[in-house]
Amino acid sequence: MKALGIDIGGTGIKGAVVDTKKGHLITDRLRLLTPEPATPEAIAATVAQVARHFEWDGPIGCTFPGVVKGGQVHTAANLDKAWIDLDAAGLIGQATGCPVTIVNDADAAGEAEARFGAARGKPGVILTITLGTGIGSALVVDGRLVPNTELGHLTLRGGDAEQWAANSVRERLELDWDEWASRVDEYLRMVEDLLWPDLFIIGGGVSKKADRFLPKLTCRTPVVPAELLNQAGIVGGALAVHRHKDKHGTEGQHVPHKHKG
Ligand code: BGC
Repeated sequence: MKALGIDIGGTGIKGAVVDTKKGHLITDRLRLLTPEPATPEAIAATVAQVARHFEWDGPIGCTFPGVVKGGQVHTAANLDKAWIDLDAAGLIGQATGCPVTIVNDADAAGEAEARFGAARGKPGVILTITLGTGIGSALVVDGRLVPNTELGHLTLRGGDAEQWAANSVRERLELDWDEWASRVDEYLRMVEDLLWPDLFIIGGGVSKKADRFLPKLTCRTPVVPAELLNQAGIVGGALAVHRHKDKHGTEGQHVPHKHKG
């Protein structure tokens, strides 16, 4: 089974065709810059450009960096606020002419890790934390995702935790690895006191440099880097195409009418 997975991020929009049974990319990855301003129309047009590049006419699974329920966006902390309350699956479905499912980016990464990566076959409470522009979270309990946990917005030091410990903060303030690791550690210790997970998986682009900061962490929960690295969003997005049907129909999916002729 194949789907086009598209990862919509604050700086790049990445896509590839994914074998959703095996969890691999079956084409090269295409990365386009996120348009600025990152308005819904501009992003939908960029996603359509990715779909055209792959001459794609099948299901598309997209990730989005905000709360998404039933194809509708509810929050957009690091993107244009015009996304809020928008039927994103409908908009991108119209722009591409393909059936579109849309899910939170960290949830997509967490599901991909649960099925094919660092949490494959592992029972228990597993939290994937993505450290990027913001902080994303995916809670998987015995293989089943609890979506939209948004633990990046817990309060830490009187403010939004992602504004203290995200990877973008390390870059902006030019923190060294020790300084930043201690911020991440403080954050993970707060989260583990709340949920007592069995495992933390650290995702986001910085997980490629896990050896620089994971050994400095002191939290009690074991911490491992994501295995799918920068493919997790694309694979997880594509997996969302097969999400179970609920009473509202296919979860978050928009199926456009095809015009013949
Ligand atoms: C958003 C989350 C998202 C995370 C990572 C946060 O600011 O609220 O929905 O998963 O950033 O992109």
